[in-house]
Amino acid sequence: SGPGLKDYYRSFFPIGVSVSPRVLKGEEAQLIISQFNSVTPENDMKMGNIHPRENEYNFGRPDSIVAFALRNKMKIRGHTLCWHNQVPAWIFKDEKGDTVSKEILLRRLKDHITTVVTRYKGKVYAWDVVNEVISDKKEEFYRNSAWLRICGPEFIEKAFQWAHEADPQAVLFYNDYNEINPVKRAKIIQMVKDLRAKGVPVQAIGLQAHWAFNEPTEDQLEKTFADFAALKIPLQVTELDISVYPKEHEARARSASDADTSYNREKENSQAEQYRRCFAIFRKYKNALTGVTFWNLSDRHSWLDNFPVQGRKDYPLLFDRNLQPKKAFKEVVSF
Ligand code: G3I
Repeated sequence: SGPGLKDYYRSFFPIGVSVSPRVLKGEEAQLIISQFNSVTPENDMKMGNIHPRENEYNFGRPDSIVAFALRNKMKIRGHTLCWHNQVPAWIFKDEKGDTVSKEILLRRLKDHITTVVTRYKGKVYAWDVVNEVISDKKEEFYRNSAWLRICGPEFIEKAFQWAHEADPQAVLFYNDYNEINPVKRAKIIQMVKDLRAKGVPVQAIGLQAHWAFNEPTEDQLEKTFADFAALKIPLQVTELDISVYPKEHEARARSASDADTSYNREKENSQAEQYRRCFAIFRKYKNALTGVTFWNLSDRHSWLDNFPVQGRKDYPLLFDRNLQPKKAFKEVVSF
């Protein structure tokens, strides 16, 4: 086969893909090996999956992803140490089933981070330490999560400190979505600045980049990258995909039955255009950008299938359901 994405982008940044063990065999594994030089476990390092009970860790699946990556000389991004979603039920409860105290919760978080980061020390080069703690609501700064309600914002800086203690070499990320929204972006930047001013080891920012064919616009892309690059710390695009449906707020208003869910030439073209615009900006900001990761391998499977509309399939990636490169692929590698 010809050159892969990773070869076209060799002088820019590594190109990654989110994976689960299911795609690490057969033709999907071949596609991963030929196209990408970085992987992120899609779900298997999240707290609920890797640490389902207080004294039980599930290292089988994440270990198999790490082994695959090392065998194929790929980088590994760890995802994610502290998130409000996919958390195990036990973490917020004490032995009586009541809400756990701040002191115990912080100790649990420390144990979790120390155990997971230490296991993959020297293998996982970058961690999404804290994920999505900034609120999407204008009037609210932090997301109102159980972490925040029980601990206050202190858990954020602690998480970074504990991760850094466990692996001082790993690059520590704050990772979030809706980064193209100026209000949310300003809050993300504010938080990262404040933490860094206090000496907290937040070393890089992950922009998830769950986008659509019609959003962000060229202008939104420019502003987003200009604002983040002004921080002068490394940035990565950590979860890129481009939905063929108009952005969520519009799509949500429709029912699955009245939305046109066929994947036609028009959708393929407008998506390809958007991918072209995005990668032009990524290349422009190559000095700040240290990686671009796609969220899923091909249109065979995407987290956007059934989201936000039940029963609706999306086609957000560069490879189609037969693992063949789409028009978007050609736009991304023609420069
Ligand atoms: O593994 C079970 C399976 O046993 C069960 O039969 C099935 C029934 O629904 O569920 C399976 O678990 C699902 C899991 O994905 C694996 O497919 C969960 O229900 C589902 O909630 C979970 O979704 C993941 C989602 O995070 C959870 O919030 C997506 O795969 C994953 O792509 C998505 O990734 C997140 C990033 O981590 C953070 N940023 C946003 C991004 C997209 O939501």
